[in-house]
This record gives sequence, structure tokens and C-alpha cells, in this order.
Amino acid sequence: MPASDNMTGKQASNKIQAPQGMFDILPEDQPFYKKIYGTGEKISSFYGFKEITPPILESTELFEKGTGETTEIVEKQMYSLKTKGGDSLTMRPEFTPSLARAYLEQGMISLPQPVKMFSFGPVFRHEKPQAGRYRQFHQFNLEAFGSKRPIVEVEIIYVFYNILQALGIKKLIIELNSIGDKECIGDYKKLLVRYLKKNESHLCSDCKRRLKINPLRIMDCKQERCKQIVLGAPQIIDHLCKECHNHFKKVLEFLDELGLPYSLNPCLVRGLDYYTRTVFEIIAEDELGRRLGSLVGGGRYDDLVKLFSRKSVPACGGAGGVERIIAIMKERNLNPGETPEPRVFLAQLGDAAKIKSLKLMEDFRKAGILVAESFDRDSLSAQLKNADKLKVLYSLIIGEEEASRDMIIIRDMINGRQTSVKTDKVVGELKKKLKQQ
Ligand code: HAM
Repeated sequence: MPASDNMTGKQASNKIQAPQGMFDILPEDQPFYKKIYGTGEKISSFYGFKEITPPILESTELFEKGTGETTEIVEKQMYSLKTKGGDSLTMRPEFTPSLARAYLEQGMISLPQPVKMFSFGPVFRHEKPQAGRYRQFHQFNLEAFGSKRPIVEVEIIYVFYNILQALGIKKLIIELNSIGDKECIGDYKKLLVRYLKKNESHLCSDCKRRLKINPLRIMDCKQERCKQIVLGAPQIIDHLCKECHNHFKKVLEFLDELGLPYSLNPCLVRGLDYYTRTVFEIIAEDELGRRLGSLVGGGRYDDLVKLFSRKSVPACGGAGGVERIIAIMKERNLNPGETPEPRVFLAQLGDAAKIKSLKLMEDFRKAGILVAESFDRDSLSAQLKNADKLKVLYSLIIGEEEASRDMIIIRDMINGRQTSVKTDKVVGELKKKLKQQ
């Protein structure tokens, strides 16, 4: 993970730096992103999810309505701007409302349902930067629109679980809860508020405010004093209506049949307004079984699409936090795969040789042989030193004389032996030599 100061929130005032909580993805970290995208793409495509890339900027109203006005994201964390034309746009803080919009706007409602989509890309939240919490981070996101069946949320959990396993991340636990639907949640909220009001003076200031606007969020407050109060609160799982109860029971049965490790967490409510019924998080555990941060979060949201149209479209999905997955991979020494190392170095002297080398690079590229060079250097000894450092097996040398005779010297870097070949034979010759290694 990037270790620059802007990740930790420190910022020197006299220097131009990346914005706080945002960072450069350096060359050494690129293989992690590629690996997560590649693994996610392969597994989710296999399960019928098609890739979709929505715009990074969307109308602010989309998130105000979709993510929800009482969420911290909309209240405090959105990067919003006014365009020159006067439109109010927001850098997406998550994918879900964008995909609900795309589903409606692109007429996907007339396709065979469910419509299953995956996306990968940056999201933006103006949060307090700290370990595992950035202002620009990446999500691998899955959504399925058009099915109310419990098997669909189980499929989403299963696909995420399989992606994490394929990345080598073991010791995972799925935390689950059901927060019911608008039929049962209303009555439950009344009960909860009645209980919390009795304990209001002991709640943190945020929860005192939440008590009025979004009492459910108090259930997952991280403050110790609120946690103590929540321990005695009525649990939503005991107040589900029959349909929600049966739906959740089916989800658990399917998870049992798949042999997935899960635990029920009655305090899991998630911080977004649109959820109904099943909510889940996938969490990595350490050696001692202690739960580390959440790698994936999601759930069912049967009423979101209705906020944008009159159509009722049940849906569910989830998103994996790519930087959190990378952090675990690094901590557990899970290598994202070798970046191929060049085995050949191309050294040249003079302009004619440099141009010939550039053309030759393309022939090597087409033949699938990785070649390093340092076109910027003029001295042959400096170039060969470079080749030594890279531990290549062969160096190809084109001096001024070789360039005029259309020849190349092949130098075996292990025994120092040199042979000359015609330029148009060098790729074939190297192929043969590398095969023998
Ligand atoms: P979320 O829980 O807000 O859900 O984010 C999903 C994941 O993104 C988290 O589990 C975490 O790994 C990562 N994440 C969240 N905030 C940060 C941050 N500030 N820095 C680094 N990583 C972070 C959603 O975004 C929902 N849209 C998921 C969903 C899709 N639900 C239904 N469909």
C-alpha cells in the first residue's frame, strides 16, 4: 500500500502533493490492482455478470436520493461541484445508485432478469484519512437487478467469497443480518427508539442525533458507551415479518449447503439507506480469530430503483474495497504474480543503431520476448552494466559498424562469448537460445 505522507493525512503546506487521502498507485502496486481486477473479472463473468463502466461524475441528486440523505456519505463525504452550465455533479462515492440509473436509462428492464453486472474503478469519499480509509479508493462491485429470490444474494456472497479465496485470502467470515422490509422495519424502529430514548443521556452525540433521523445506525456505532446500550436493545431479527423471516431462513440454508462460514451479527445494519432484508460483510480474521476490517459489504435493496421510477425492481449487490484487499494480501505475503523479467538487453551506439533497435524491439514484442534497453545512454560500458544489474541472459549490441552492415552482436552474459548474426535472424536465434535455457 502506498506509504506516502498523504495516506496518513500529513501534508506539508509548501509543497504540491496529491490531495489528502488520495495517492499515486506506484508501479510496484500495479500488479495487485491487475490481479484483483483479473480474478474478479474471470470469476464474476463465469457466473454471468457483465462488465459496465458508469461515469465517475453523476448528478448529485442521484446520490442524495439513492445513497440516502441521512447517510454520512451524503451528509458529509461527497465531492460535489457545480459545472459551468450550472449542473450539480458529484464524484461517485459508490457504484450502486449509478447502476440503478444505468439499468433504467438503458432499458435493461426489458432484458431477461436478473441483469447481473460488475464494475471496477475509483470512488470518492471525503472521510478522515486513516489506515484502510482513504478519500479515493477502488471498489470491485457486483449488482443483480430484477430478482427477489434469496439465491441471488447468496450467489453474490459466493462470488465475492470465491474471488477472495482465489486471491489466496483464507480465514474469512461472512457476517450477516436481516433488516427486514418497510413492512416490519417501521414497527421495529418504534420499539428501538422507545428503548434508546430511555438511555439517551448515555449515547454519544452522533447517536443522539441519529436517534431522530436514523435510529437503526445506532446499532453499529463503534463507541464503547453506545455498544453497551445496544447490547440490551431489541433485535430486528426477532421482529421480522413472515416473508422477511422466510427469506432470511432460505439465505442461511443456502449458505449452509455451500459450506460457507458465516455468523449472525444482529448489530450489522450497514451505513447506506437503501438496504432491505439481507445485509452482509465479508471480514478477514487474524490468526487468533480476531476480526479485521470489512473487505466486502453489500446486501439486498428492493426499494432503490423505485426511487427513480415508478417501477419496482428488487435488487442486491456488494462491493469489495480493493485497497483493503491489497493490504491483507501484503500482510500475508500473497504475491500478485511475478511481473515478467526481461532476459535480453539491447545495447546500441549511435543514432542509426538506436533507430534500428527501436524497430527491433517491436519484432521482439511480437515474438513475445521481453527486452530491456537504455536508449538514453551512449556509453556501451554503462549499458552493459545496466544489463548486468538486470541479470539478463543475453545482450544484443548494435554499434555503428554493425548498424551499417545490418549485423548484431549477441553476447552471452554468463560466459562473455560473442557471436554476430544478421539483424533479420536475431529474433529467431534468441528464441532458440532462450528455449535451451
Ligand atoms: P460500503 O460498505 O460503503 O458499501 O463499501 C464497500 C467496501 O468498500 C467496504 O467493505 C470497504 O472494504 C471499502 N471501503 C469503504 N470505504 C472505504 C474507504 N474510505 N477507504 C477504503 N476502502 C473503503 C458500498 O459501497 C455499497 N455500494 C455496496 C453495495 C453494492 N451494496 C449493494 N450493492
